[in-house]
Amino acid sequence: MVCLVSPLINFPRKNHERCHRVLLLASSDLSGHRLHQVSTRIYSSGNLSCDADEQTRVVGMAMNGGDGPHSYAENSAYQRGYFEAAKEVLKDEIVAKLDVNPTSTWFRIADLGCSTGPNTYLAVETIVEAVEQRFKSEPGLDSPPTPEIEVLFNDTPLNDFNTLLRCLPPERRYYATAAPGSFYGRLFPKASIQMAYSSCSICWLSGIPKEVADETSPAWNRGSIHYDNVARKRVFEAYVAQFAKDMEVFLRTRAEEVVSGGLMALLVAAVPDIMPDSVTTVATEIEVLGSCLVDMAKQGMISEEQVDTFNLPLYYTRPEELKELIIRNGSFSIERMEILNNKKEHVTMPMSVERRAMFVRAFTEGLLGQHFGSSIVDELFDRYAKKIAISSFYLKPDNHKTLMLFVLLKRMK
Ligand SMILES: C[S@@+](CC[C@H](N)C(=O)[O-])C[C@H]1O[C@@H](n2cnc3c(N)ncnc32)[C@H](O)[C@@H]1O
Repeated sequence: MVCLVSPLINFPRKNHERCHRVLLLASSDLSGHRLHQVSTRIYSSGNLSCDADEQTRVVGMAMNGGDGPHSYAENSAYQRGYFEAAKEVLKDEIVAKLDVNPTSTWFRIADLGCSTGPNTYLAVETIVEAVEQRFKSEPGLDSPPTPEIEVLFNDTPLNDFNTLLRCLPPERRYYATAAPGSFYGRLFPKASIQMAYSSCSICWLSGIPKEVADETSPAWNRGSIHYDNVARKRVFEAYVAQFAKDMEVFLRTRAEEVVSGGLMALLVAAVPDIMPDSVTTVATEIEVLGSCLVDMAKQGMISEEQVDTFNLPLYYTRPEELKELIIRNGSFSIERMEILNNKKEHVTMPMSVERRAMFVRAFTEGLLGQHFGSSIVDELFDRYAKKIAISSFYLKPDNHKTLMLFVLLKRMK
């Protein structure tokens, strides 16, 4: 497969939209595989200025690219395990609940926060199969034509789209388009998506709540990189408010893009509605990472100010909280919402010290490297591995308190 990258061309669209076509027609048929169009577009626009703040804030976010030992592709079996747990339900729900237009010649699927690696291809393949089945089951047509399917792979501009496009399954039955940009803003034209999917992505906020990095605020998160809903209540409240704001933007913009009767399936990292105080700090591993940074600051390897101004924009919602936000938005009906039971979690969650450190590194290194400099990252994760190795807590599957929600939404008419 050969990738041809065209020079960046800007051309104005309508009054206020600009479409930057960055990469065009990229796969050649050297190996005898079907030829597919691969293109990327970035939509940005004046009339969407309400989301411009969010669009710029997420710029630093991306999982580790490539396919090396520290890549997300090699360290995302945990997330994949949850997709496997949702797969059959997802398929059945699409076949049962997706409204289709039998005369339509095209069908668009968007994977929001696709990252790189096998997870997105598996999810997309499953959705494509279900959509094909859905069209075949449409009553009243002898041989319904399957529409041409386009998949829009969305992630932030820093995502490794080259690896994503280079490794697309050669026998796929869809056109692939990379769509860089923040899903906390408009990504696609109005009513242009029939099926949206997002897995393990909306737990990432559009950015850290401003007040947690503001030393004049009561929510200033000094000496820590995350929230704790007991000891750092004001910080926690700032994260809760940020999530509510982000979800409103996410749902509002998706409501504009998804056609009525279209579906949106979400896999969302969460915590139980009720947790005893002793385990309220679900993000304890992130606390460990924070404590390594504090140690490094004490030893003069980084500054205290750097630690005080760094926070992870990661938030674990609760089922009831998410449900209320969806209802408040009012554009989607909740067709299904349940806690996924991943019977294989003890296998997919990395339980060796080394693998666990690589797992956490794959999703945090980008943000850490940008803030502290990439030269500290090896040292930081060496320290991290040593700290979790001497504790009996972190590597016990029963102590892992986060859960994964499966949510199926339908765009109301
Ligand atoms: C944990 S990965 C999940 C990847 C894949 N969906 C999976 O299930 O394995 C989260 C992805 O969401 C992306 N992401 C986070 N915030 C985003 C945003 N505002 N817009 C688009 N992508 C975002 C990250 O860059 C990352 O690739």
